[in-house]
Amino acid sequence: MHRDQQKQAAARAALDYIESGDIVGVGSGSTVHFFIDELAKLKGKIDGGVASSIATADRMRARGITVLDLNQVGKVPIYVDGADEATHHLHLIKGGGGALTREKIIAQASEKFVCIADHSKLVPTLGEFPLPIEVIPMAQSLVGRALAGLGALPQLRADFTTDNGNIILHARNLAISNPIQMEQRINQFPGVVTVGLFALRGADVLLLGGENGVEVIR
Ligand code: 5RP
Repeated sequence: MHRDQQKQAAARAALDYIESGDIVGVGSGSTVHFFIDELAKLKGKIDGGVASSIATADRMRARGITVLDLNQVGKVPIYVDGADEATHHLHLIKGGGGALTREKIIAQASEKFVCIADHSKLVPTLGEFPLPIEVIPMAQSLVGRALAGLGALPQLRADFTTDNGNIILHARNLAISNPIQMEQRINQFPGVVTVGLFALRGADVLLLGGENGVEVIR
């Protein structure tokens, strides 16, 4: 199966986790694009969705799915999003699309986080993918030095501004043997808005599209 077909299979499998009347948190990225197309088929069944990025909100509206403000909804029973890397412990690196802050907010607000991806995203240890970190622009150098202190090679994502008006630093070369500890540590650096480690609140279920169908890890 081609990579896109694997993403699509994972996206389709996520529909099984959605119940009638749910408000669905919707992540960002190419796998989520497939999910939005699938979700559109359930339009009448759900009460709407909360979007993690402007791109996601635009695609949802274009498919006729009602986009709701997180502050207006009582709870988010389910959140569906992709990942750049995932482990068997359901720890993730996210933010390849730069939407990590709103993604982390909705993940935290959700009762169940269903992560969808193709099988290539499953790794034994996080960190091969350069860790995205959203940073307040004036703190770029300060945070860069703090990351270098952890042994990372920080690099600015060129020509990119997040939906929140901030920059993204990528931390390469980070040994992430303890994702929870690393997330807590980077969270402490003044100027960091969000680190793309989703370990304190990881996924509840991982749906991985592969050659032989969709593998479920929980
Ligand atoms: C966006 C994300 C995406 O979920 C992540 O980058 C995976 O994207 P894709 O589904 O295109 O591989 O975190 O901020």
